[in-house]
Amino acid sequence: MEYQQLAFERRSIRGFRPNPIPKALLGEIISVAAQAPSSMNTQPWHVHAVAGDVLDRIRGGNTERMLETGKPDREIRGHGRYEGDHRERQKRVAAQLFDAAGIGWDDKAQRQDWAMRGFRQFDAPVSVIGCIDRDLYDSTEAYFDLGQFVYGMVLAAWDRGVGCVINGQGISQSSVVREHANIPDDQLIVITVAMGFPDDSFAANGVVSERRPVSEIATYRGFGS
Ligand SMILES: Cc1cc2nc3c(=O)[nH]c(=O)nc-3n(C[C@H](O)[C@H](O)[C@H](O)COP(=O)(O)O)c2cc1C
Repeated sequence: MEYQQLAFERRSIRGFRPNPIPKALLGEIISVAAQAPSSMNTQPWHVHAVAGDVLDRIRGGNTERMLETGKPDREIRGHGRYEGDHRERQKRVAAQLFDAAGIGWDDKAQRQDWAMRGFRQFDAPVSVIGCIDRDLYDSTEAYFDLGQFVYGMVLAAWDRGVGCVINGQGISQSSVVREHANIPDDQLIVITVAMGFPDDSFAANGVVSERRPVSEIATYRGFGS
């Protein structure tokens, strides 16, 4: 696909067919992502693809610990609750998703069920855990570098018919992820991406989230009229 078409047509996928993603296809997707630029070409990223029993243990432990403690325990700094415009945009996409999934805004049980799906990585057949070298914990650039890698991976996947949702909820209990995925101590768990072939009967997969217009995002100076 042309880049522009990919960028406009990609959307997050949260309902998957159970079919596994062949290892060779995943390798191809990761090789495209690895072409991302990085600060001084440091390439501080590592990815750990998990499936089968390993992924089931991660989703089980992540869910159990979230239910037990009620709060995330991640290795990266968090921002707490979104406020202001950020909160409004968060609410808007949640409303679109709940509407598509038939979840009432005030239905606590259904909302809880949706949150649990997130902690289970939406039951995707594959999860790709994104890490950076731990000694770059204080380097904002390293997170930026991994972000570019991850977006490249998501687009390369979409181009091959594989759907993804970048899924912060999936690493809410990072020690569980670390243990079962056997993440080396010198790597920091930053994010995971749930992946698989989209289940077209899952209505929330069709949600097209909104974007701010360029006129609101960008300012121009010195361009003339
Ligand atoms: C860093 C990051 C973390 C995310 N974590 C979650 C998550 O935990 N659960 C979820 O359902 N979506 C998650 N998303 C997906 C966003 O909600 C989604 O990208 C956004 O609403 C825009 O929708 P789109 O991807 O369909 O364009 C995450 C996205 C990013 C970039």
